[in-house]
Amino acid sequence: MAEPALRQRKNGTPADEQKANGTTKPNVVGGKGKGSPSKYATGLIGLVAFVFAALLYRSDYFLRQHVAPELETTTRLPADLQRRDAVVQAFKHAWSGYERDAMGDDQYHPISKKGTNLTDAGGIGYTIVDAIDTMQIMGLTEEYTRARAWIEKSLSFDRNGKFNTFEITIRILGGLLSAYHLCSGDPLYLEKATELADRLLPAFETPFGLPATDVNLGLRKAVEDANNVASTAEVGSVQLELRYLSHLTDNDEYWDKAENVMKTIKAATLPSGLATIYMGTESGQFLMSQIRLGSRGDSFYEYLLKQYLQTNQTETGYRELYENAMTAIHKTLLRTTPAKNLTFFVELVPQRGRRGKIDWHAEPKQDHLVCFLGGNLMLGATTAGADKHSVSVPPMDDELSPTGQRDWKTGMDVIETCIETYKGTATGLSPEIVHFRTSDDGLGSTAKTDWYIKGARGSSKEPPYDARYILRPETIESLFVAYRLTGDEKYRQYGWDIFQAIEKYCRVETGGYASILNVDDVNSKLEDRMETFMLSETLKYLYLLFSDESVLPLDKYVFNTEAHPLPIFTPQSRRPFT
Ligand SMILES: *[C@@H]1O[C@H](CO)[C@@H](O)[C@H](O)[C@H]1NC(C)=O
Ligand SMILES: *[C@@H]1O[C@H](CO)[C@@H](O)[C@H](O)[C@H]1NC(C)=O
Ligand SMILES: *[C@@H]1O[C@H](CO)[C@@H](O)[C@H](O)[C@H]1NC(C)=O
Repeated sequence: MAEPALRQRKNGTPADEQKANGTTKPNVVGGKGKGSPSKYATGLIGLVAFVFAALLYRSDYFLRQHVAPELETTTRLPADLQRRDAVVQAFKHAWSGYERDAMGDDQYHPISKKGTNLTDAGGIGYTIVDAIDTMQIMGLTEEYTRARAWIEKSLSFDRNGKFNTFEITIRILGGLLSAYHLCSGDPLYLEKATELADRLLPAFETPFGLPATDVNLGLRKAVEDANNVASTAEVGSVQLELRYLSHLTDNDEYWDKAENVMKTIKAATLPSGLATIYMGTESGQFLMSQIRLGSRGDSFYEYLLKQYLQTNQTETGYRELYENAMTAIHKTLLRTTPAKNLTFFVELVPQRGRRGKIDWHAEPKQDHLVCFLGGNLMLGATTAGADKHSVSVPPMDDELSPTGQRDWKTGMDVIETCIETYKGTATGLSPEIVHFRTSDDGLGSTAKTDWYIKGARGSSKEPPYDARYILRPETIESLFVAYRLTGDEKYRQYGWDIFQAIEKYCRVETGGYASILNVDDVNSKLEDRMETFMLSETLKYLYLLFSDESVLPLDKYVFNTEAHPLPIFTPQSRRPFT
């Protein structure tokens, strides 16, 4: 597994030796869940599914149900068909390279035209499953049919290898669940999702229920980090997927495991409302480590809000956790730059001072990953921060609570900052990490820009790690949410500018898109890698940005942190999280 930091989007796992903790747990067959049907039943279900699926294609039912913008002339936010279709062409271009060169491999390398797998144990459909719901949403029937056939014939999770619990959950489990929903219930996806979840569940057999970082899918065993450490984002971002699976199967086990993690997190939360980026899987506590909204922290905050939204705002326990966290980040992490007054969030780094006292040092450094927060704050403002169930577009001041108004404004400001980090580079693409100027950084107050790429000067050498753009989606995700909530055309324009920069600098002519190593160099070298989130997130959010508002409306769906849409539902007989 070369370069895990690049493969793993949110949370590179610390280098460690493998240590299986030996919780072998048989595949549990619940009394009321789908369980494992007999061979006959499987055959029957398969046949019914086939006939059903054939009918669906015939009538293009799944397309019409979710994607019929041309027919809708009365929506407030109509589609921009030309731009939307350009995004579809980009998806086809990205997929065609993969399908031609690497179909069935987990990852795609568009320059060498090769595929690789995450482990030597064989592929698990990483790219295909992550991409298939985008095909459904875009109405790409031919690509969809071939991808589905691969899942039916070739997808196997019986792989004796070590897989990251979080990444597998958000990309594959999330992808299967969205595919299931979007095609109105093709049982293939639910069977695969259930099998995968059953193989993941042993990861949760730790003293406080925090999932081990890795799991051996073939052996159905947790593979704990050597130091029993897990990222906060990782343990806190598997809940939407497991809960929806319980909702579909009536098997509570997935829900209980997911909720148990949140109980542990709630019990451990620091008085400030903030969370450090590591937790101990044996202690159930936050460990002394950085506090930040970027890598290893990000989607923990995202899922606090989205768990509240997923169950149709019935679980106020999640709203409280979310509001406390947002109040804490406003109090301690929010800053503005001296010249242009750009809003950003610092990272806090613990330093042991004299007599062992911990001092928190603020670093004015922001990951591109943090750009998800702009849209997330705005979404939170119009839901958790709203006085009524549905607010105007854009919301009126008096529809939002004081914290809702605060979050709305910060969300918009964060998006502007992220856009500045795109507009301010030679390629129009944003770097992986930016540093911000502060009034006391000793660099003087005359600098033209308010932010910079650390280590970027001294040009002859290789560009610094921070300077790369790896096709990340977070800013586009925020633009999509902001557009839906405001109707302000500037968000579509920002998104279009980014899309054109991707086309210009990242497109590989023979098929696929690659990362670029230096956003400040129009002749930048490319890196031979197309992350799966290009297909599942970046292009999907661009498509949705230019679609009309009836496609996956935000009051009916939550998007998991890999952009897989899951429907909002009201639980009938479940005790809400408190
Ligand atoms: C990836 O795994 C699949 C399934 O085992 C296999 O067919 C394929 O050849 C593997 N690809 C590579 C590049 O090893
Ligand atoms: C800077 O931005 C903050 C946050 O949006 C705002 O409250 C403040 O008024 C701005 N200051 C100036 C000088 O524009
Ligand atoms: C969510 O709750 C609202 C208000 O209580 C209700 O009108 C709506 O139908 C619910 N939505 C779903 C998907 O259950």
